[in-house]
Amino acid sequence: MQKRVVVTGGMGYIGSHTIIDLIDNGFEVISIDNYLNSEPEVLDRIFDVTGVRVKNYNVDLVDAAATKAVFEANPNIDGIIHFAALKSVGESVEKPWEYFHNNMNSLLNVLKCAADFNISSFIFSSSCSVYGNANELPVTENTPMQEAESPYARTKQIGEHIITDFAKAHPDFKAILLRYFNPAGAHESAKIGESPTYNASNLVPVITETAIGKRKQVTVFGSDYDTRDGSCVRDYIHVMDLANAHTKSLEYLMQNKNEQACEIFNVAIGEGVSVLEAVQAFERSTQQKLNYVIGERREGDVIAIYANLDKAAARLGWQPKRDIDAIMRTAWEWEKVRSKQTAKV
Ligand code: WQD
Repeated sequence: MQKRVVVTGGMGYIGSHTIIDLIDNGFEVISIDNYLNSEPEVLDRIFDVTGVRVKNYNVDLVDAAATKAVFEANPNIDGIIHFAALKSVGESVEKPWEYFHNNMNSLLNVLKCAADFNISSFIFSSSCSVYGNANELPVTENTPMQEAESPYARTKQIGEHIITDFAKAHPDFKAILLRYFNPAGAHESAKIGESPTYNASNLVPVITETAIGKRKQVTVFGSDYDTRDGSCVRDYIHVMDLANAHTKSLEYLMQNKNEQACEIFNVAIGEGVSVLEAVQAFERSTQQKLNYVIGERREGDVIAIYANLDKAAARLGWQPKRDIDAIMRTAWEWEKVRSKQTAKV
């Protein structure tokens, strides 16, 4: 009997790639996404890759009644993966009310449905941003959370606490909080990838948009940090490895392997890559020269963060399979395809 999973935010970058991995691993998927930061074409791209026509409910999860109606129309759901959230760090500083209103109410409404419809396995899209400027590196799941650097990060910290307390109060409910580091790259088929509906601000899409000619240059935000080459260090994780971490997490819960009602896992490659090293990786893996300049630091940037992955490897049996070169190569292949598609519009 196929396990049925509801994926909220399923039309987004990580959500859509995770749907592909779930289908590859035999799951039946139902998506709920109001296309706030995605586009209906994503359904066609998922079909192109998997041959499966996924159903997406265009519903705002802040609307409790509309959310409940989706679960009423789809009985016998075995698990939920909750991606749907506003996720721009910079935008959250300008619009904190919108971020708390959207991210918290949508989480609460989905949790209410999990309780009302006896759905016991729940995966939450959390973030390395809950660590803030961590006081130790690499960070483990036991590294204490520091003060959130943005309202976005705070919604993830609060979300983790809500789910932890909810799991304590509902004995049949079990959850995994996945703390993503820097997701990047695209599906190897180049039929799907990151397609931000607003101006990308993350490093890897900025690099590929510069290389394809949509942008004049990449500005490296600071080269005077206390790191090996002066630029900030991050832990970039290929989106398909990140997708598989969700599938492995669901299987772990459905096989009752969890030891606590709510468990936390870092999802990353487990090594730090600086901005300048990322630029070099792009040029090396694509043979494209990149036009970049050194600029001022960006407000709110964490100097360095990267993860220790031992727990996910030991408990979930999950390991990243792709490195920074694969991230850059697949991101570039997708950018070339995506630019042709948008050029036709
Ligand atoms: C990476 C590095 C920039 C753009 C993201 C998400 C956040 C969370 C963690 C999931 C930084 C530098 C960037 C540019 C640059 N993910 N940079 N020039 O800030 O680490 O956070 O991953 O929850 O939601 O936003 O990612 O890609 O913006 O920046 O020099 O044009 O690249 O300073 O050091 P960040 P990013």
